[in-house]
Amino acid sequence: MTESSFNEVCVLEPEDQVAPATAIVIFGATGDLTHRKIIPAFYHLQKHGRLADGCAIVGFARRPKTDQEFREELRASVEEFSHSKPVDKEMLDRLLSHVYYHQADLADPVGYRQLADRLKTLPERPAFQNRYLFYMATAPSYFETIAENLARADLAYDENAAGISRVIVEKPFGEDLKSAQHLNQTLQRFFPEQNIYRIDHYLGKETVQNLLYFRFGNSIYEPLWNRRYIDNVQITVAEKVGVEDRGGYYDATGAARDMLQNHLFQLLTLIAMEPPASLEAEAIRDEKVKVLKSIPLSSEEALIQKSVRAQYGEGMIDGRKVRPYRRESRVAPDSMTETFVALRLEVDNWRWAGVPFYLRTGKAMRQQFSEINIVFNRPPSVLFAAVCGVRLHRNSLRIRIQPNEGIHLNFNGKVPGKSVIQRVDMDFRYREDFQDYLPEAYERLMVDALVGESTLFTRKDEVEQAWRLVDGLRSAWMGQNIKELPSYGAGSLGPEEANQLLQREGRGWLPIYDY
Ligand code: BG6
Repeated sequence: MTESSFNEVCVLEPEDQVAPATAIVIFGATGDLTHRKIIPAFYHLQKHGRLADGCAIVGFARRPKTDQEFREELRASVEEFSHSKPVDKEMLDRLLSHVYYHQADLADPVGYRQLADRLKTLPERPAFQNRYLFYMATAPSYFETIAENLARADLAYDENAAGISRVIVEKPFGEDLKSAQHLNQTLQRFFPEQNIYRIDHYLGKETVQNLLYFRFGNSIYEPLWNRRYIDNVQITVAEKVGVEDRGGYYDATGAARDMLQNHLFQLLTLIAMEPPASLEAEAIRDEKVKVLKSIPLSSEEALIQKSVRAQYGEGMIDGRKVRPYRRESRVAPDSMTETFVALRLEVDNWRWAGVPFYLRTGKAMRQQFSEINIVFNRPPSVLFAAVCGVRLHRNSLRIRIQPNEGIHLNFNGKVPGKSVIQRVDMDFRYREDFQDYLPEAYERLMVDALVGESTLFTRKDEVEQAWRLVDGLRSAWMGQNIKELPSYGAGSLGPEEANQLLQREGRGWLPIYDY
């Protein structure tokens, strides 16, 4: 075997995989998610030739509406929310010509039988035949009802029957372990596990998919990727937005359930997992679950010590005054819901024993950024380290998930002309190396669900183990008899307590870096 030329690429999957003709039924078709994410994603897939002829999209919702009215509403949404403008009118028209609206009540079995009849008469039927993708984009309280009603209307085929019927289930997948288990059991009564696609849209982000490529497609980092060389790992998902118009949902949920249980734990598993036996979905998901299972279920007392929860108070973001969380609409004035959480945990296995993982996420923070920092050990305390002490920066690898996506290696170098050592950076920036646009998470996830590729969706045991951990944390919090949560100013980087969490151990969050 000879070495490849420098620019040669290696194609792992058929590039631009085209989704086969399928009838896609969206429950909750008039909701925000459909308009902001799902339909713009289908528009981009259409534009890039990734939907086979003969795909049909049926919006299922209660409000009366004609097909034409629904199409016009979706047109306005794509024009507003598409991430690549101007919108290609011809492609959008082509997509919309295959969109239909089915008016029915989610709880009424008759509406599903009518749906089944309607699917048989659509002009695209000869192409999609019995190939269905049902997308549950409703409030979670409807998920089980939808599954049951689909089965009653004979729409829940499995691969062995005369058709394929898959379901995408939006988050939140349950609100604790018990409800997630119940939902899993119900879904599995009607759909085999391999046909259930539980969404965590973080997995569809290009930078998150790249974590596997980066870790296992290189030989220089993996030998260092363990407790011998890594001092700590920091995962931050900071948001500038507050709860906006989602006060009702958010106040009943909080940061631990809204973000930690899913997005942050997903980032953690990809960073900490062992190399999978293959690139098959199950091999990868097996390793991810093992990470979650290696996190000890700590005592309540320990969890209180190792976690911080807080709520944003008044503050300024981008020169705009932000009201305190408790004054947001549909939030209880005495709410004890956390809008920020920080957690220190350990992955107690051979690779990671003793390495702290610090996770934090919050709303109404100074800056929107999601980043994973791998912080390496200092060199031995001789030579430069002996003289500089803590001023000799630890090496760190910053993986920027969003925005300004990239990977940055920080190391120490000599300042020219002086006997001074200083931190310098080696940078990879998506926008410089790849001129193509970064596809939105939902685009990739839609194609994967349509072709039956489940790597980027969460498996039953994964979701349940993540809930087990979050339930433990929340039960420790509930046992605390406190009347107020620590607060942080909107527009700050979170509460002081989150800094102390690391300072107590002689560490600190890496400063935000301006890319
Ligand atoms: C969602 C949460 O899952 O993720 C929201 O419910 C959060 O509260 C959002 O704002 C963040 O996603 P992204 O892609 O904007 O980082």
